[in-house]
Amino acid sequence: MKNILESSFFKKMRDIIYGMYHHGWDERNGGNVSLLVTDEELEGYIDKNVVIRTIPFDFCAEKLAGKYFLVTSSGKYFRNVVCSPETTLGLIRIAKDGHHAELLWGFEDGGVFTSEFPSHMKCHMQRLEVDPENRVIMHCHPTNILAMNCVHELDEISITRDMWKMGTECIVVFPEGIGVLPWMLCGTNEIGDATSEKMKEYRLVIWGMHGIYACGKNLDEAFGLIETLEKAAEIYMLTSTQKRINTITDDQLRLLANFFKVNYKKGVID
Ligand code: 13P
Ligand code: ZN
Repeated sequence: MKNILESSFFKKMRDIIYGMYHHGWDERNGGNVSLLVTDEELEGYIDKNVVIRTIPFDFCAEKLAGKYFLVTSSGKYFRNVVCSPETTLGLIRIAKDGHHAELLWGFEDGGVFTSEFPSHMKCHMQRLEVDPENRVIMHCHPTNILAMNCVHELDEISITRDMWKMGTECIVVFPEGIGVLPWMLCGTNEIGDATSEKMKEYRLVIWGMHGIYACGKNLDEAFGLIETLEKAAEIYMLTSTQKRINTITDDQLRLLANFFKVNYKKGVID
């Protein structure tokens, strides 16, 4: 068997998580990531017949049966993913019954997947219907998005509009806008259902007074979405106590959308 730590999917996951930590998005154990790994990518790295243990969960993920995920461990620090990947990450397969995860690698100190596993798996199920190439669900606590939550109404239309106006690239990067949920109890099936519902339409979903969820075809896409929104929120916060004398106008946003041929959310600047 080849060393899974040397696989390209594993190295990418480690590097992205390191980047998330260094952006200040993941204090202590804050945040979680799940990456759908294909059969082909795992070939030669893992004996798929050796299940270390099974971990139950109380929702149905039958649609994901047989699929493999590299996922962060609950309560573990993102800061330690580089030095201790075997305890901070696990490779699981969703069992046939859709109610168990089969652990194939990792979670070495007896750990389990993130407490946000319902949100991750429900969002994977939803996004695969919208985009069969979706592979990543990412959650974290970026400082400026959270600061903005304290001063901005938690409303999808006005947040989308204000964020599009904070940076020229924003309407191009997230033309569908930003989904927003009110504060909800985290770690539950309910917040998972609400987040996955939003992900029918959005790749970015704000969890009010908690953080952000993003998805993507790969780790770069999910990371880049959060990075762009976090930059917009930073500019919003840096200018929130100043008199704003310049803005990107609605006409300029339309010009951008037409030039870059993006289908932007209607009802925001119309
Ligand atoms: P976990 O450590 O269980 O992943 O929880 C972190 C978190 O951000 C909860 O929302
Ligand atoms: Zn969180």
